[in-house]
Amino acid sequence: MKQKLLFASLISVLSFSAIAGEGMWLPFLLSQNEAALRKSGLRLTAKDLYDANQASLKDAVVHFGGFCTGEVVSHQGLIFTNHHCGYDAIQEHSSVNNDLLTYGFWAKNLAEEKPNPGLFVDFIRYMEDVTPLILQNIPSKLTDTEKALAIKSNIQSLIQQRESLRDLEYSVKPIYYGMQYILVASERYSDVRLVGAPPSYIGKFGSDTDNWVWPRHTGDFSVFRVYASPQGKPSAYHAENVPLHIAHPLKISISGAEENDFTMVYGFPGRTEEYLPAAGVSQAVDWLNPLRIGVRKRLLSTWDSAMRVSPEMKIAYASKYASSANAYKKWIGVNIGIKRTGALQAIAKEEAAVVHLGYEFAQNVKSINAAYEAANPLMASRELYAEVVLRGWELAGLASQLKGLTEEKVASAEFAAFLQDFYKNYNPTLDRRALQKTLAYWLVEAPHGWPSLQVPPLEKTQASALACMDGFLAHPKTSLSLYQKDPSAWWKEAQADPVMLWMTEYQSWAQTTLSTPLKPFLETISNGLPLYMRGLMQAGEGKDFYPDANSTLRLASGKVLAYSPADGVEYTTHTTLDGMMAKYIPGDYEFDIHLPLRALYAQKDFGPYAMPNGQMPVCFIASNHTSGGNSGSPAFNARGELIGINFDRVWEGTMSDYYFDERICRNVMVDIRYVLFIIDKLGGASHLIHEMELVQGHSGRTFVAPKKASKE
Ligand code: ARG
Ligand code: GLU
Repeated sequence: MKQKLLFASLISVLSFSAIAGEGMWLPFLLSQNEAALRKSGLRLTAKDLYDANQASLKDAVVHFGGFCTGEVVSHQGLIFTNHHCGYDAIQEHSSVNNDLLTYGFWAKNLAEEKPNPGLFVDFIRYMEDVTPLILQNIPSKLTDTEKALAIKSNIQSLIQQRESLRDLEYSVKPIYYGMQYILVASERYSDVRLVGAPPSYIGKFGSDTDNWVWPRHTGDFSVFRVYASPQGKPSAYHAENVPLHIAHPLKISISGAEENDFTMVYGFPGRTEEYLPAAGVSQAVDWLNPLRIGVRKRLLSTWDSAMRVSPEMKIAYASKYASSANAYKKWIGVNIGIKRTGALQAIAKEEAAVVHLGYEFAQNVKSINAAYEAANPLMASRELYAEVVLRGWELAGLASQLKGLTEEKVASAEFAAFLQDFYKNYNPTLDRRALQKTLAYWLVEAPHGWPSLQVPPLEKTQASALACMDGFLAHPKTSLSLYQKDPSAWWKEAQADPVMLWMTEYQSWAQTTLSTPLKPFLETISNGLPLYMRGLMQAGEGKDFYPDANSTLRLASGKVLAYSPADGVEYTTHTTLDGMMAKYIPGDYEFDIHLPLRALYAQKDFGPYAMPNGQMPVCFIASNHTSGGNSGSPAFNARGELIGINFDRVWEGTMSDYYFDERICRNVMVDIRYVLFIIDKLGGASHLIHEMELVQGHSGRTFVAPKKASKE
């Protein structure tokens, strides 16, 4: 056994660069990584992945709605993304009598595809390093504020100049804390129609209990189609629009991937902080996360107890609960992973290397660290206020929305819809109950354990906050009926509501007591981080540094890889329908499985999509470095064929936003064979399958669907 272990650890040292999944790389700079990528198994060239002028894989990857990723899988603009990315659109088309969320939906033809006003996809046309253009003519003597203004003006004129050349959308984003700037040119299509979605018992199987968790059995996908004007140009929804023709959609492999196979994920990760000094990560892990977790634990358990006994409450709070619980669970996972891997010690080592570079670097680290230390209790106090009041207390959330409004805006159709929506999913009794719990945490429990926290006076705050729950705005029926009769009378009442006055007073308390004193520390930190970044690069000479995620297109590569979540526990790489059936709890809110899937399972009617051993795959994991925003991203094999759709990370590995450790950081994908099986066999939408090009085997030869073959 010992011998085997020694062998295993040697292998992992020797093949470190071959299995390491760390990094989310800018696709237009991939030629630098080409050799390493090919060594780890990639069969394509950097130009096959990204090319500004020729066809490349990037043409089939879209930024979905600005918050997720999608991929084009047919010449007629068909795209895949996650079920949770399409959730709002699916919900929007659902009603009690036509519940697409619960029962799923498959358009039988183009005419049945459902438009979604407001939803768009962005295609990336090209990306470019524009650092010299942005940082030119900036005298070194400028103050930080002046410098920021000069950069802003350079960005604006560059964008104007590009706009005059070609009609695209342009944005310029800093990387490495402003050491470099990249320009992204994209094209936005805003007629995106819903084509299909599995029922929630598949698309959301395991719901919050299984969220962030491996082993996983969620069929987290949905299907949309991009439409364009008859001339093929971007266009808002129009009945005459036609499916957007795509020259090079993805090929889909039905041969799957096995442990140790090369994989890559192409998509739009939102935000990571990989280059903070230890004090920065410790602020999140030791100061902010415990308090966030403390508040949400109380909020979520209060909501949950109501949702479990009332079907109405369950519907009203489902979406709020899911998104709040998503972050709550992630923070817990981050803290577990950071502790388990000793990430803070490893980061401290990198920091020490920067300090050793010389006086200027050492002084910089010293002042950043001092600022973090001074900021910690203030940051924590501000976070606690934000969690309890702005994010937890729904009525206060409404009040802060109302703050910046005018009478004119209040009378608009848009606001009417917003208010209707708010009250539709609002229960004041539950809000009050939750508020009592979170106030007790904010004002009594938390400061008790953390004497350095700043909180407002207990008695007055508690009494005045709870009194807001007797006001006009806390009465959905009264408030809505007045609004419907007379928006301007409603606006007068609303402005005099106790919760509006409460918010004015406490926002100003937060400003004076927390935000203003914090400002100089936050400035020291943000001014010091660019030099710290430069230090990391200098100290880690020879190492490649990928920029932090910033919602631009990135490529991550890795391997299908098992991991050990805890001492004595080993997780394997794939889950199957057998495992899903083993989790089945009839009638359960999270683990129910309806008859159609159980019947297909009983008949073993898997078509050509089963694994060679006859089992139906559901999800798999790999060591690709991903983050929030990578939801819906295509997962590819070495030939760039689609093998899965990314939708999550494993719990212990969510710390990869601060520190990627290939021992436990894994991304979670739904196996594309399961997606095809559900579309084809459960959805009966074989016409969609026939739009796609399926390939199989190591040569990627085209797979001819049996139905088609038998007709010949
Ligand atoms: N954890 C995934 C992500 O961060 C999935 C979230 C949606 N699912 C859920 N049960 N809330 O987006
Ligand atoms: N579910 C996440 C999203 O919506 C992706 C998972 C992650 O954070 O890696 O973007």
